[in-house]
Amino acid sequence: MQYASWMEKLGEGFIGEMLKAAQNPSMISFAGGLPALELFPDQALQRCFQRVFEGQGKAALQYAQTAGHPPLREWLALQHKRNGNPVSFEEIAVTTGSQQGLSLLAQTFLDPGDVVFVETPTYLGAIQAFQSFRAQMTMVPCDEQGVIPEELEKMLKLVTPKFLYLIPNYQNPSGKIMGLERRIELLRIAQAYDLLVVEDNPYGDLRFEGEKSPNLLELGDNVIYLGTFSKVLSPGLRVGYVVAKPDIINHLCQTKEGVDLHSNNLTQRAVLEFLNEGLLPGHIQNLCTVYKERRNTMVRSIEEYLGDKVEMIIPSGGLFLWARFKTINNSFDYVQETIRQNVLYVPGELFYTDGRVTPEVRLNYSCSTPEIIEEGIQRLARAIK
Ligand SMILES: Cc1ncc(COP(=O)(O)O)c(C=O)c1O
Repeated sequence: MQYASWMEKLGEGFIGEMLKAAQNPSMISFAGGLPALELFPDQALQRCFQRVFEGQGKAALQYAQTAGHPPLREWLALQHKRNGNPVSFEEIAVTTGSQQGLSLLAQTFLDPGDVVFVETPTYLGAIQAFQSFRAQMTMVPCDEQGVIPEELEKMLKLVTPKFLYLIPNYQNPSGKIMGLERRIELLRIAQAYDLLVVEDNPYGDLRFEGEKSPNLLELGDNVIYLGTFSKVLSPGLRVGYVVAKPDIINHLCQTKEGVDLHSNNLTQRAVLEFLNEGLLPGHIQNLCTVYKERRNTMVRSIEEYLGDKVEMIIPSGGLFLWARFKTINNSFDYVQETIRQNVLYVPGELFYTDGRVTPEVRLNYSCSTPEIIEEGIQRLARAIK
């Protein structure tokens, strides 16, 4: 009763329950979004932290600038273009993971009841961030490439949202990727309706096949971009960033001051050491090789053990495979049975903002070896039979 009113709307802590179930050592979890633990470059990072302590230890332990460690901001600015033009240092703010970027955007832009357009389905953590600032989320109909431009335009004629939230690369949860023409068309509509687009891109570099598409930020002007080192380096470091126009960055930093003053100064410097050593591209290549094999194993195992009971979207990158069971109505109903069989998935319902019943599930393949993936899919087949 002493809690804020929006907390009443929260579910029954399903994620917490999942995390608890995942502690069981015989559990095979396809539920999380974890990178492969054994691939973390821990020794290289240890050297980077060591060098920071040796060369700049005292400064790294001091309070620092809200927008982030300036040389890291410089490095990040060089990685991006806005609408074909170079991005400047003033257009970057370092955040405590991109999850904080989402939360800062919500806190900075949303008044209670404001509308945010999201994909159908969309990232659970974004739903949570927007919900906590009392946004009203509206799902835009999607096809195999994500948001359907004609549907978006129809909706924009009726409602003016504060922004449209998109994950164009290897979407969470669906694994879909948006083609170049679709990107251009969406940005044309955004321009025409003065619509702000929030592009969240944690998975873009984890590409197994297909051409790389330019980011929305690169193609248009009305874009706020969220990046992170969580999926390509380590989520425990909690280093993410926002690219936006300087005025938006200033507003986000005003909000951030009240949240955490600044992100971890020591860690930002160690990440910069890692980047300056040129270690990231090789590491990403390694991740892609391993994750592609795991994706292949999951697809093959689903075909073998679940066969025509399931329809799936085969992802060409990222961490997730989205599947629909043809023989059941509601994947939530089978969670207890899958826990009994020692395997976990996330029921699709959690990724929709309208609480619909669905036979879809999100399966993660990045943090299990091929042998474990095969065993887990066999267990899943037993649970769903
Ligand atoms: C689409 C998307 N955005 C943001 C995040 C948050 O990532 P982090 O805060 O670790 O950078 C995740 C993590 O799973 C994600 O899938």
